[in-house]
Amino acid sequence: MDRANEVPKRLENEIRSMAAHAPKPAPLSPEDRESLRIHIKKLLVEQNAVLVAHVYVDEELQILAEETGGHVADSLGMAYFGNTHPANTLVVIGVRFMGETAKILNPEKRVLMPDLDATCSLDLSCPADEFTTFCDQHPDREVVVYANTSAAVKARADWMVTSSNAVDIVNHLKEEGQKIIFAPDKHLGRYIQQQTGVDMLCWQGFCVVHDEFKAVELKRLMELYPDAEVLVHPESPEAVIALADVVGSTTKLIKAAEESTAKQLIVATDYGIFHSMKAVAPDKELIVAPTGGEGATCISCAHCPWMAMNGLKNLAHVLETGTNQVHVPEAIRVKALAPIQRMLDFSKSNIQKQIDAA
Ligand code: 13P
Ligand code: SF4
Repeated sequence: MDRANEVPKRLENEIRSMAAHAPKPAPLSPEDRESLRIHIKKLLVEQNAVLVAHVYVDEELQILAEETGGHVADSLGMAYFGNTHPANTLVVIGVRFMGETAKILNPEKRVLMPDLDATCSLDLSCPADEFTTFCDQHPDREVVVYANTSAAVKARADWMVTSSNAVDIVNHLKEEGQKIIFAPDKHLGRYIQQQTGVDMLCWQGFCVVHDEFKAVELKRLMELYPDAEVLVHPESPEAVIALADVVGSTTKLIKAAEESTAKQLIVATDYGIFHSMKAVAPDKELIVAPTGGEGATCISCAHCPWMAMNGLKNLAHVLETGTNQVHVPEAIRVKALAPIQRMLDFSKSNIQKQIDAA
């Protein structure tokens, strides 16, 4: 077994256990919720801070970001918004790699996160030192990494991509005659390879949320809803992707929800996305794709355990105290900036259109 297989396999049980034990914010009464919302709004103004939230976080946080002039987006849109907004403080509500990307792009800004332990199984499955050794063994290949990686992994890469632009960027590299290494998601890597036909070595990491969608159960659900359209994120297993009407990034799936003529949509991605889908498709019935058969258990049940660590209480706390600042060592930051900037320059006009439309 080569390193691209062996490292994620060795870490798999540990990662699944971390996902299963990720702490959840304690439930709040409606009165506490409302007073925290008012308090956070006041702190944001006082501190010239803006909320940048991912589409997978809990709905009340997405609503708060929208109400306060912040932004709710996919990881690409978050990076771009943070980089162009004038606030001194960016409060990134998502997972660790999103806060790091914001800091890499904006070293002069203070970047806060409600919980710095909110990680990602893809990031965890790709330790920088072992990935670097792997890349060094294949010096003839361009290194393309997914946004869901640590700053240190990005520092070893030539390009960063997100699920919004991965196929376009890899197509561009293929046209240049490049062979590539892709990391860390095995399903997304295989999907990109199939779409582009590029010569690819792929790291075998996995997402604890998308890896759990089950094709057999999805087929049964499709029989119950024969007119439903099936929307699938490409971090899902191949057999699930094969059943999809639309495969794409979170942004592409939201657009598909808006444009679909179907009344029911079966969605194979984190159900946090339903907030953005309901906004553009209020009349459609949104159904979560199955993560397990009858009586089965699931670790994530279609909601990222680390995205779910963000809540009103820890958000208010970081704004009050200035704790949970994201720091990236300068030597790593400078190296990691190059692949991110390359991607942003490649995708600029598309992202600006998305922000203008929001
Ligand atoms: P996006 O790049 O579409 O925001 O997805 C990030 C992610 O974590 C998907 O699981
Ligand atoms: Fe990572 Fe999966 Fe969570 Fe996205 S949903 S942040 S890929 S663990």
